[in-house]
Parts: sequence; C-alpha cells; structure tokens
Amino acid sequence: MATFTERMGPVLLFWLGLCLSGTWAVDKGNFKTCDQSAFCKRQRAITPGESPYRALLETMELTNTKLTLQLINDNNKVRLLLELYRLQGNITRVKINELKPLKPRYEVPDVLIREPPTEPLSLLSQDENGVVLSLGAESQRVIVSARPFRLDIVEGRDVLMSLNSRGLLGFEHLRMRKDTFSYKVTSTVASVWDNIKRVFSSSQADPEADNKEATDPPSQVETTKEEEEKVEDGMWEETFKSHTDSKPNGPSAVSLDFSLPGVEHVYGIPEHADTLKLKTTDSGDPYRLYNLDVFQYELYNPMALYGSVPVMLAHNAQRTTGIFWLNAAETWVDISSNTAGKTVFGKMLDYVQGSSETPQTDVRWISESGIIDVFLMLGPTPREVFSQYASLTGTQAFPPLASLGYHQCRWNYNDQEDVRAVDAGFDEHDIPYDFIWLDIEHTDGKRYFTWDPHKFASPKEMLQGLMDKKRKMVAIVDPHIKVDTNYKIHNEIRSRGFYIKNKDGADYEGWCWPGSAGYPDFTRPDMRAWWAGQFAYDQYEGSMENLYTWNDMNEPSVFNGPEVTMHKDALHGSWEHRDMHNLYGFYVQMATAQGLIERSGGVERPFVLTRAVFAGSQRLGAVWTGDNAAEWDHLKISIPMCLSLGLVGISFCGADVGGFFKSPSSELLVRWYQTGAYQPFFRAHAHLDTPRREPWLFGPENTALIREAVRQRYTFLPYWYQLFYHAYQTGEPVMRPLWVEYPQDPATFALDDEFLLGRDLLVHPVTEEGARGVTAYLPGKDEVWFDIHTFQKHNGVQNLYIPVTMSSIPVFQRGGSIIPRKLRVRRSSACMEDDPYTLYVALDNRRTAEGELYIDDGHTFNFEKREFIHRKFSFTNNVLSSVNLEPDAQFTTKSWVERIIILGASKPSKITLRTAGKLLVLLFTI
Ligand code: GLC
Repeated sequence: MATFTERMGPVLLFWLGLCLSGTWAVDKGNFKTCDQSAFCKRQRAITPGESPYRALLETMELTNTKLTLQLINDNNKVRLLLELYRLQGNITRVKINELKPLKPRYEVPDVLIREPPTEPLSLLSQDENGVVLSLGAESQRVIVSARPFRLDIVEGRDVLMSLNSRGLLGFEHLRMRKDTFSYKVTSTVASVWDNIKRVFSSSQADPEADNKEATDPPSQVETTKEEEEKVEDGMWEETFKSHTDSKPNGPSAVSLDFSLPGVEHVYGIPEHADTLKLKTTDSGDPYRLYNLDVFQYELYNPMALYGSVPVMLAHNAQRTTGIFWLNAAETWVDISSNTAGKTVFGKMLDYVQGSSETPQTDVRWISESGIIDVFLMLGPTPREVFSQYASLTGTQAFPPLASLGYHQCRWNYNDQEDVRAVDAGFDEHDIPYDFIWLDIEHTDGKRYFTWDPHKFASPKEMLQGLMDKKRKMVAIVDPHIKVDTNYKIHNEIRSRGFYIKNKDGADYEGWCWPGSAGYPDFTRPDMRAWWAGQFAYDQYEGSMENLYTWNDMNEPSVFNGPEVTMHKDALHGSWEHRDMHNLYGFYVQMATAQGLIERSGGVERPFVLTRAVFAGSQRLGAVWTGDNAAEWDHLKISIPMCLSLGLVGISFCGADVGGFFKSPSSELLVRWYQTGAYQPFFRAHAHLDTPRREPWLFGPENTALIREAVRQRYTFLPYWYQLFYHAYQTGEPVMRPLWVEYPQDPATFALDDEFLLGRDLLVHPVTEEGARGVTAYLPGKDEVWFDIHTFQKHNGVQNLYIPVTMSSIPVFQRGGSIIPRKLRVRRSSACMEDDPYTLYVALDNRRTAEGELYIDDGHTFNFEKREFIHRKFSFTNNVLSSVNLEPDAQFTTKSWVERIIILGASKPSKITLRTAGKLLVLLFTI
C-alpha cells in the first residue's frame, strides 16, 4: 500500500511541512501588510486635509435621474467624472471614474441583480461654491462643495455621511510607462493628444497590446508642467517574497474617505476573525479584503480571510446606515474614531462638563484597481438597510429544508464501508443527521467529478443506501483542475480555451491538491455554462439526486502562488486577475449552483457550500468559516464571524463544529455541538490528521449530550425554515446581533457572545471552558423571556446569571412570540416531513403573542409558483387564531398542529377549539 505522502505527492509534503512547523500561528510573513502592498502604502500616505480635487461646477449636467460633474486633480490636472444617482428605497449611488481613461477600467459585473431603479433628483440651489440637490422625498439633500470637492448627505439638520471630507479621495489615473515610452513634457497639449490618439488606436487594433508594457499613453493632459509625476517603487512592478507582479497597467488604485457623524459603532466587511464591532485601525493595519487561504488563521486581527464582502454598516441609537463599496480588487479599510480609547466614564465626564464633541467614525476604503462605485444605504432602520442592500444584490437563496439539518463531515470518510458504518452509527445512537460529506480523497487522484475506483467503486449503491434512509451526501468539487491529459475535464477545459491565462498568454498553472492544476475562468458565461453541464446525471458518473456539492479552495488557493493565491497579472480575457480576484469564488459557486439546478430540469433547489464569498454570494448557497481549530477561542469567534456575514446578507453561515485542526476535548466538542445547533449551517468537520470524532466516540455521557443538542436542532427546524423563507424574502439575517432588534439600546451594540435567531430566540451558548454559569443580557424593557428548557420567565432588561451544567444551552423565547416546532425527532428531516407541529406560545406582558408557520415541499422551486402554506398565529384575549397570510398560495400537507404549549398563561377552566364552524373541548394539562 502506498504511504500517505506517496499518495499525496509533493503538494502534501508542502502542506504537512506547514502543519509540522510548530505551534498554532499564522505565518504572517506569507501575507502582505499594508506597508508591503504598494498601493495601500501609497494611498495611506496621503495626508488628510489637502485634497487636490476640485469640482468643476460649469461641467455639471443634471437630468431627472442623474447628476454628472467633472472633478479635477489640481496637482496633475487629470479629470474624473462623478456620477450621482438617487436610487429607489433611500439609496444614493456615487460613481467616480476617470473622465477619459486610457483603457476601460473594470466595473464589477453580475453582482447587482439589476440596474438599480432611480428616483428623481432636483436642483435646490447653486453658486460658485457648490450645489445643493434634493434627494427623493425624504427631505434629504446632497451638498456638493467645489473647492475642495466634498459631498455631504444631509437630512433635516443632520449630516448623515460626508465623502472626501478628510480629503483622502485618491484616483491613480492610468498612464504610460515612462521608462519605455517617454515623451517630452514640453510638447503642446495638442501634440500630446496626438501621441495619445496614435498609441491608443494602435493598442486597440492589437488587443494583446493592452497587456504589454510600454504602450499606454498618458491620461488627460491639461498643462505641460505637472506631467512629471513621481514614479515610486511598486508602481510598475512589485515583488513580495519570491513573486514579482508585473503590473503592466501601472498604478491604478482608488480610495475615498467617509465620515459618519454621531457614529461609534461600525460592523460588517467580512470576512475577518474579529469582534462583531469593528475596531479602529490607527495603530495597525487596515482591515483587508482579499480572498485568501490563510493557513492557521489568527483571531482578533484585521488580516484577510477566504471571503470579502465590501459592505459596512454604521449604527447608533437613532439610525443605521450602510456603505457598499462595489469593487472586487484587493481592498483595505481604515477605521478611526474620535471617541476610540475613551472610557464610558471619560465620555460621561466630557458630557457633564459640556466638553464632549460629537462622536464620529471615519472610514476609508482603498482598492487596487477598478473604479469608485459606492452605494450609500441611508436606512434609517437596520431592517431598511437590509432591504436596501437586498434590492441591490439579492437575498439569501432559500435552501432545501434538509440542509438546515445536521451535516457530518470529515477529511475523509475513507470508503463506502466507512460511510455505511458512520451512517449506521447515527441510527444506533439515535442521532439524526441529513448529510454525510466526502472530502477530496473520494476522488480518483483529486480529479473532481470522479470517484476513487477502489474505495468508492459503486457510488450509486452508496447513494441509494442513503436515499433509502432519506439522507443525502455532499461531495467536494474544487475549482483547480488536475493537469492530466488522461482527465476528460482537463482536456475539455483546455481545448475550449477556458483556463485562466498567465501574463504571457499560456494556460495559468499552479499547485493545489492534485499537483499541477489549471484554473477555469469562471468569469466567462460560456465556461460557467459548460461547468454547470458537468453536473448532469449523464456527465457526472455515479451522481444521483441526493448528491450535492462543496466548492472549496475557490479564493482561489494556489499553494505556490503569491500569498497562496493567483498571480495578479494572470488574465481573464483582457482583464487582469487583479481586477476581479475577490469575485472568483462567487462565480465558482454560481456555476455549480446552476449545474445542480439544471440537472433537475430547474425543479430542485441546489445546495452548494463555498469557502470564498463576495457581495451577492447569499444568492448561491451556504458558507463556512474555513479552517478553524479545536480551541475555545475559535468556538467563540464563530459567533461574531457568522453575525458579520449575516449583516451583509449571507445568512447561511457556520463554522466547523469541533474545530478543523487539532483535537477537541470532549467538553469543547460538546459545547461546540451545543453552539452549532443554534447556528445556521450546522456541520462537524475535521482535518485528515485528527483522530476520529463521530459523536459517539467520547463515552455515553457525551454521546447523550451531543444527541440532545442535535435533537434540539431538529425540533426547531420549522422555525429555522421559516426564518430562511423570511431571509429569502427580505434579506434580513437569520442569525442577528441583538442591536438589530433593540437598536436604541447601547448595551446591545458590542455583544460577541450571544445572538438572536430571528426576533424570537435569544441564544447565549456556553463557550468558556469549565463554565459554571453564563451571564446573558436579556434586552427590551417591556420584554419577557422564557427559558426554553425550564419555561422560567425573566424580565428584560437585565443581565441574567444562569448557572450551567454540561447539558445547558441557554436559549430564551421572547414573550409575545409563537414558535412552531416538531417534537418527534427522527432519522433525518425528510423522515419528519409529515409529522405534526407543536406551537410554543410565549405570552408577553399584555398576554398576547404572534408567530408564523411556513410549509412547502422542502426541496423544489414550486414555492415560486406559490405552492406553500404561510399562516400567521395570534394569541390575544385568551384566543389563539390563525389567518392565511398568502391566500393565493396553495399547498397540501399531511402535518397538523397536535399540541399548543402556552407559556405565561394563567390556569383556564376550559379550552375549546373552533374549527369549520364546530366547537370542540380540548384536553389540557398544566
Ligand atoms: C481545505 C478546506 C477543508 C478541507 C481540506 C481538504 O483545507 O478548508 O475544509 O477539508 O481543504 O479538502
């Protein structure tokens, strides 16, 4: 038998080399700091308060829906074009591009779900200092100041947001490379323009010339003098470790500052392993957005991770707003605040002494290329910001019900017998699960869409075995394709010219799990269509309808590439990888989800897990937080990491239960199951080198504790399903920070250890080793909260100390809510389809409650044809009634309501049921 390393070859040696290289710590030397990223360093060096940009008011054009205006940089005379749109739903869009770029600059496609509809703009006043426009009906105005250029969005007397108020707008115009194309700066404007035209037309005639050095003419030129611009290191070439980035287009960064008066709390811009409330970055690096496969990622720092969603939310007790910076290149975000570092006491003292300045947060976005295209989502409530963002990029895909159940994964389940035994283990130990997962070892030599001929010789038999039990499987399909002329997928991609190219035009190759691999160009619609076709049952041999897909390594991960990813000068047609790096994973998941939809003739909802995400990924499936570790801090960080993703629309998030690297103690494993059972994507996963950890391997007591946690999950599936339906409809996060529901309560603004599911379940999992108790914050001065296990009632607002044992999962149901559950837990969610519901009616102080129930077939798109039941329950005046929320929808279910549990009620003398004109006396107990 081949040894492990023989089987895995050089790639694994590399990977193991990393694994063995000491204690847990990211090798920071593998990843750039802002100082090592030339554009970030250049932009960060711009001094505030000296903006060279001036608005040329005489160039202003105003149509009913759009303002355009030229800006000029007084240092180099390069002109920019500003476009401002008022969008429906209280959103303002600001685009800034070069007025006449040498060649088009990248504008992110496919992320917005449509061209956003506009609303009228009108001019209120104008003089030589600027213009004032009214924005829609909201009594909002935008003030454009000319010298220096700045934009202020004002509502009533409040400034909501200011752009370039610190003068940090930066826009590196495309220019020619001086060492190879020099021209005399003394030439007249006309002759320079001749040069430009000549070079530009020659570069257009030869599309390849776009990517060659030395052909780029200068941008707009107004005078002759300022043309000698500084050429700094890293503008035309940049070396990091052994990698040189050739930068054929030279410097192209864009940046802009935003001031948020009155704001002390900003959130979002995932993915970072950091607190929910973002920190100020004055004393360190900015938060980085650059999809990277970071081995052994470190917690509580702003380093980039697998996903990048350039959306930030700002919140205070009066208002929530958001900034969506639509740019897919490497991006850094600086945050500073005038109250950072002040204690609450210090702030109070300022207030009492009357010396307090208005708190303000300033943020600054810096991207390597592309344009400035920013959506200012003006709230004012958190819900409105979610709906504004959803109107731009869409909502969470409505997942198949089964994918909300429990997922059992490890790298790897070794063979079919292993899968059978693990599957049987769940039955033997009476633990439900819905999906068992196969990692890369299931393939024939890391050739995706194939099966190892010995270990998985009859995949259909295996899948049928699972199907007989109403269970499903996920198999991994990564986007790196083994370069092997005996591999059909490789041959086809190569012959169709679908691989990403290197800077010289040959197929780009990098190292990943299979050894040398090509990377399909998923930005191409024809490539995506071809890839989708590979999931057809007659193409993907051994696949069946209960086989779903996991897209990993789609940052993309390139083991021998710069920062473990792709060279920025690789080419997607005429665009550089640099321009769209953060979009690659989004496209991979898009093509895969499309494949799963198409294989069923458009009938079935897909389930695709991805590691890399961008804005809009919520439309495509689920995400997990990558390679965490079996450590308590990693359990804790799963909460803010998923909350941050949820705030930017990506609700279907989870972390590897148990921790991927290392081996959890039984206490940590149990606590992780208890936490994961109340997070949206609930999957256990483990590294190949770790000892086995199926739930029954830690002694009967721990098995029982894990069983109980998983079973609790299954009882709540109707609620989860309804929350996801709601997320699909509205964009509201399923798992949400408390401030979303209690926006005026500052005590909720920075909680990292508890969260809400929807409005009605508050979860404060135990995430401390050896905990004897936790203190949960119960919000809402008029609220009451019921412990879901003991039914004990607690008032908000309070910090409630809850003594805990190993079986405790502190969860509370909000008084005033009705939650549907299914208490007959079976083998899998599909086995529970026809089971009856129990309604948990938790009364508020006015003895009323409300809730919803959503039912459909659980797996098809028929809900789009209105085949579902959506009812609302209300309890008031001691009567529980139900109305049909969507009377035009139709669905037949075998389920029924078998039991109603009323929390907080006084003892009744009799309970009657009125249905179809009949009155029945019901049994009840107290
Ligand atoms: C990556 C994934 C991990 C997976 C492994 C092998 O490290 O993040 O989940 O098990 O690759 O495919």
